[in-house]
Amino acid sequence: MTVIAVPQDRIPGQEGWPASEPGTPPLADLIGADLKVPLVPTGTARYVNLDYAASTPALRVVAAQIAELLPLYSSVHRGAGYASMVCTTAYEAARADIAAFAGARDDDVVVITRNTTDALNLLANAVPGPAVHLDIEHHANLLPWQARHGRVVSARGGLGETMAALDAELASRPAALLAITGASNVTGECLPLRALAEMAHRHGARIAVDGAQLAPHRRVDLAATDIDYFAFSGHKIYAPFGAGALIGRRDWPAAVRCVRSGCAAPTGPRRPPGTRLAPPTCLVPWRWPPPAAMSARCPSAWRRHMKTRCCDASPRGWQASAAYGYCGSGPARLTRSAW
Ligand SMILES: Cc1ncc(COP(=O)(O)O)c(C=O)c1O
Repeated sequence: MTVIAVPQDRIPGQEGWPASEPGTPPLADLIGADLKVPLVPTGTARYVNLDYAASTPALRVVAAQIAELLPLYSSVHRGAGYASMVCTTAYEAARADIAAFAGARDDDVVVITRNTTDALNLLANAVPGPAVHLDIEHHANLLPWQARHGRVVSARGGLGETMAALDAELASRPAALLAITGASNVTGECLPLRALAEMAHRHGARIAVDGAQLAPHRRVDLAATDIDYFAFSGHKIYAPFGAGALIGRRDWPAAVRCVRSGCAAPTGPRRPPGTRLAPPTCLVPWRWPPPAAMSARCPSAWRRHMKTRCCDASPRGWQASAAYGYCGSGPARLTRSAW
């Protein structure tokens, strides 16, 4: 293994690192919180990771759950054996946990995805019309729409003007969706989601929220805020590895037959030996209704435990985030210059 050592002179004051009060419990009990890194020419220092917005370390409780499930790990939705059935059951149970975490409506669908990017691309494949979005979005909530004739609105000097510009664009001609960030990855600013949902609905559009940076810092409640779709990443809420979700209205995702061709288990009629399946092969019907099948095509029982336990544990994460003041609660400023 290659060890990259950090020069000692780049760590000012590493000797006198401020310690918390003895006995103070950590806000979030994280794997690797006590990580020491090698220094040049010699010695070690406590490692401080200032980029949790990109990806968080795992909560200790999550790691414990993964370790518990690992001996039972087997294929999800593709086996009849004991371990496979345990993992399938666990995987399916995760949907309810994720739905509760997001305050979903009873009839919402939960599609477990690789991450926010994957969730938004899935939604982009399902939207039955143009999407309106701001030009300050993260690429994950920008490129999928631009690839499908999305209508871009330039952010103005303040939130009120930006909202007015969105309103005008939605009023100008029909749109299927308003795709908007819940919390900016650049400024930390949280947008007024209930007001934006009301605006979208008034113009006959639905609203999708990129919750990648919102989910770690604020409680999410789709039903109360009337958000139609919510996408977020597990690896930003203290789950390791790739996991995410798209939660929301069932009808659009359910109408999509194929996002990624291949794998999983189709129920369609068996093709006669020696014949080829005519393209597109993705039109083969799936054994499970499409939203479930979408998740099943990237099965990983790990995700169930990672997701469940992170959703359970996230209030502690919110406390931690609030303590570090990541999401500013001051007056909203959505400005191009800030971006
Ligand atoms: C606001 C926002 N949206 C989307 C994403 C994409 O998240 P992921 O890489 O988990 O798909 C990020 C990642 O940093 C983000 O900050």
